[in-house]
Amino acid sequence: MPTHAHTQTQATNPITHPSRLPLIAPSILAANYARLGDECRNALEAGGDLLHYDVMDGHLVPNLALGVDMLASLKADLPDAFFDVHLMIERPDLFAEPFARAGAGHLTFHIEAFDGNEARALFDKVRGLGMSVGLAIDGPTAIEKADDLLPHCDLVLIMAIRAGFAGQAFDPAALQKIRYVRERVPEATRIEVDGGVGPAQALDLLEAGADVLAAASAVFRVSPDRRSAVITQMREPKGKP
Ligand code: DX5
Ligand code: ZN
Repeated sequence: MPTHAHTQTQATNPITHPSRLPLIAPSILAANYARLGDECRNALEAGGDLLHYDVMDGHLVPNLALGVDMLASLKADLPDAFFDVHLMIERPDLFAEPFARAGAGHLTFHIEAFDGNEARALFDKVRGLGMSVGLAIDGPTAIEKADDLLPHCDLVLIMAIRAGFAGQAFDPAALQKIRYVRERVPEATRIEVDGGVGPAQALDLLEAGADVLAAASAVFRVSPDRRSAVITQMREPKGKP
C-alpha cells in the first residue's frame, strides 16, 4: 500500500488554493482504461488542472467504476497529479481513509448517501486526513436539501445529469442550482459542475458562478492532439469578456 508520503498538502491543493480559475478537471471515466496512466498524463499536459476520479458502487448509482487500488497506482505513476475523487457510493465513511492513503487530494460525497448529522463528522474526518471536502447534489435532487451543509463545504458539486454514466446530455436546470449555491457560499467555496459539460456549456456555467468544470467525454472522446484546444475553450469560452 502507498504511504502518507502521497498525501496532498493544503498548499498544493488547487481547490482550496487555486493559482487560477476556472479549474478544468478532466474526468477519467471516459478515458481508455488500457492505458490510463498515459491518458491522465496527456490530459494534464493538455492543460487540465486536476483529475476528476469517479467511484461508483452499483448501489447509489447503477454502474461500477474505479476503486482505491487503481488510484494508488495512478498516484504512484503521477505523483504531482491532484485527484478530485467523486464518491458515488453508499457508506462513504468507510472509504475516506483508504482513499487518503491512496493519494486522493479531495473527496466529494453525495448528499443522497447520508443524513445531515453524519455529514459534519465525515467532513471533519476528511479534513483531518489532509484532504478538502465536497458535497455533490445529483440531478434529480432539490438543491434546498443542501442548505444546512453549504457553509461547511470546500466545494459543492452540481450534477447536470443523473449520476452514473459518461456521455449523457447536459441538463440546463443545473444553471439555476449553481446560481442558488453561489448566492449562499463564500467566494472561496468552489462550485464544480459535472455531467454533459464541454466547450458549448462553459460560458453559461462560468457566468452562473461555477469555477470547476469536470468533463469526461468532451476531453477523452476526442483525439489526444485536440484535448488542449478543448480544455482552452472550456477555460476561456468565446463571448467571455
Ligand atoms: C458521472 C460522473 C461524471 C462523468 C461525466 O456520474 O460523475 O464525472 O464522468 O461524463 P461526461 O462529461 O461525459 O458527461
Ligand atoms: Zn464525476
